[in-house]
Amino acid sequence: MKLVFLGPPGAGKGTIAALAKEHYQIPHISTGDLFRAHIKEHTPLGLEVEAILGRGDLVPDSVTVEMVRQRLGEPDAADGFILDGFPRTIAQADALKGMSGLDGVINFVLDDEVIIARLSGRRMCKSTGRIYHILYNPPKREGFDDETGEPLIQRADDQIEAIHNRLEVYQRQTFPLIDYYRERNLLIDVDASGSPDEIFALVKEVLAP
Ligand code: AP5
Repeated sequence: MKLVFLGPPGAGKGTIAALAKEHYQIPHISTGDLFRAHIKEHTPLGLEVEAILGRGDLVPDSVTVEMVRQRLGEPDAADGFILDGFPRTIAQADALKGMSGLDGVINFVLDDEVIIARLSGRRMCKSTGRIYHILYNPPKREGFDDETGEPLIQRADDQIEAIHNRLEVYQRQTFPLIDYYRERNLLIDVDASGSPDEIFALVKEVLAP
């Protein structure tokens, strides 16, 4: 299964991708996670993109497309993948067309008000990338990862100013992909307002043969 998870920041793409990855046994490829891994490792790419991610702007298409091209070329992505956060512009979608076919584009639909509540309460474990929410999915011990015991962090782009910028960037640059994929009969809208289990049940239903 070759899938794209599309939707505004904080719609729950990463949360549902973690469930779908196990269920369909395909890799979860998040461009945000790939960039954050480069930042953590202080690679040249990480140094180039750190400030861009902190502001909530988009990394230039050429850089992002090349990173995804390399990742999709790895053996585990040959038979299927979940692309989370890519493509985010029409140019990236055109580039993806040249790299791989797709079975579907899941569009996670959610109001801005809920998005802001989800993002401002998100916490994550820096080394594993595991995602929590202070109210909706709290860790067993407040402020610490359930498995590694490491202190949880708040992403720089989950500060309120960066959240507003990310929502504007999404409207301007990513929202047009909804029509792009609808016109190609690939778009599947999914209501992302329920619990993760409810949303994943909807995803499985729409992807069932
Ligand atoms: P990226 O990491 O992709 O950020 P994003 O798209 O803004 O998505 P998020 O990770 O913030 O949200 P999500 O939808 O995965 O929600 P989550 O499951 O975490 O990108 C970061 C940056 O990298 C970009 O701003 C850009 O700079 C750069 N970048 C990445 N891709 C790029 C590209 N293609 N081109 C150029 N630049 C690129 O959930 C959010 C919170 O809600 C969590 O706390 C979670 O616990 C909670 N939650 C989730 N689901 C539910 C639910 N159903 N009910 C209650 N709470 C829930």
